[in-house]
Amino acid sequence: MAKVICMFNHKGGVSKTTTSYNLAWMLREKGKRVLLVDADSQCNLTNIALGEDEFAQFYLDHPDRNIKGALSPAFDAKPVMLEAVECVTVKGQEGLFLLPGSFELSEYEVSLGVSFTLSDTMATLKNLPGSFAFLLSRTAEHHQVDYIITDFRVRFEATV
Ligand SMILES: Nc1ncnc2c1ncn2[C@@H]1O[C@H](COP(=O)(O)OP(=O)(O)O)[C@@H](O)[C@H]1O
Ligand SMILES: [Mg+2]
Repeated sequence: MAKVICMFNHKGGVSKTTTSYNLAWMLREKGKRVLLVDADSQCNLTNIALGEDEFAQFYLDHPDRNIKGALSPAFDAKPVMLEAVECVTVKGQEGLFLLPGSFELSEYEVSLGVSFTLSDTMATLKNLPGSFAFLLSRTAEHHQVDYIITDFRVRFEATV
């Protein structure tokens, strides 16, 4: 089972993204397989990992291959299971994978916040808090990683 390292702080500019990327890079240098998860809707980690030139094109080519697309069955109440994400291998870094972020992830924050308090009374919200950890564990298994490193800015940190 992969170890999870979770970088979170509600303040911006405190090195969550930089530390996530460098830690992942160093672990991979030491021979570990690492999954980087961009759970900040600013998508800076995705930008760093894909590189400035590939970043915009990636979203045009793969509009749903990101964290919001992967969580959509849970948050948009679709009757299908969450599937492991086919993550992006960081260029030249075999064994270092990126689950790309989404500029629209913040749309799910309200539902998530409500689910923290109302899931006992509203059955439809019950699966939301656990969906993130479920997705990460499926995706980590799929890529057989040793570590998951998550870069958070918002409420999703409470779900891992
Ligand atoms: N260890 C460090 N030494 C110097 N500058 C750093 C260090 N870590 C981060 N920075 C710089 O600080 C700024 C904010 O870092 P960032 O990782 O984007 O923060 P966050 O993700 O918490 O918003 C960036 O310009 C980054 O290059
Ligand atoms: Mg950041």
